[in-house]
Amino acid sequence: MLVNMKKLLEKAEQGNYAVGSFSVANMEMVLGVIKAAEELGAPIILQIAEVRLKQSPLNIIGPLMLAAARGATVPVAVHFDHGKTLEKISEALELGFTSVMYDGSHLSLEENIMMTDTVMALAKQYGASVEAEIGCVGGSEDGSEDIAINCTKPEDAVLFEKSTGVDALAIAIGNAHGNYKEEPKLRFDILEKVDEMTTTPLVLHGGTGISDEDFKRCSKTGIRKINIATATFDSVENTVRKCYNNNSINGYYDLQEAEVKGAYENAKRHILVFGSDKKGINII
Ligand code: 13P
Repeated sequence: MLVNMKKLLEKAEQGNYAVGSFSVANMEMVLGVIKAAEELGAPIILQIAEVRLKQSPLNIIGPLMLAAARGATVPVAVHFDHGKTLEKISEALELGFTSVMYDGSHLSLEENIMMTDTVMALAKQYGASVEAEIGCVGGSEDGSEDIAINCTKPEDAVLFEKSTGVDALAIAIGNAHGNYKEEPKLRFDILEKVDEMTTTPLVLHGGTGISDEDFKRCSKTGIRKINIATATFDSVENTVRKCYNNNSINGYYDLQEAEVKGAYENAKRHILVFGSDKKGINII
């Protein structure tokens, strides 16, 4: 069933776990992620970032994501990730996405607050929730920019929360998009402070490559949404490669099955680490 992200994150807060937010690029990934969520009875979020729309147009992938969410036996929120323009954010809301992110992390805090307020007023008309980001998560969603990590200042999180009342807040604690060049060293001291000083559900971007131990610690320290993109793409690619190597792909539909399997296995692994399995009941 299609649900609002705010609802999923409120439940995660009560249950002290994190919800997996999986980036998808095609139908096979949507099917694989939903299959994992249904099998584990987990609430999930399906998302696509604005930079990915050149490969997967919003007017095509959006309705597909929404249809899959509506047909799922578990609660699924459909989220627009790293929204950069009001035009595309509006388009996602018009399609029926139940949450949008406005990424103003490159702006001054004041400008970020102003733009987030504008997006919140827009999203309110659709009953959708809003995620924002402060500080800078490293890299960029599609690897096209090498943005330096700039950890969130806890006092900025307090001011941002007070000024915007945003539904979810992405923070930077040493995390980065894409595969990490070196093992990430997350700043749990910052996370603990932000968690203590604020009540907004927190979001961890750049989930690929973070250790299970760190994921678990994050999900016990206020992180309620964890974004996973590259790990899914890599898992799909590697599963397909393995199947070709062992000659188990004979024709297109075997290839399609391998793609679904790659997305399914990756989502399943992460849901179990985030502790959101069996949490998809009694959400509404
Ligand atoms: P990864 O590609 O590192 O998993 O990051 C995903 C993400 O944060 C999407 O917003």
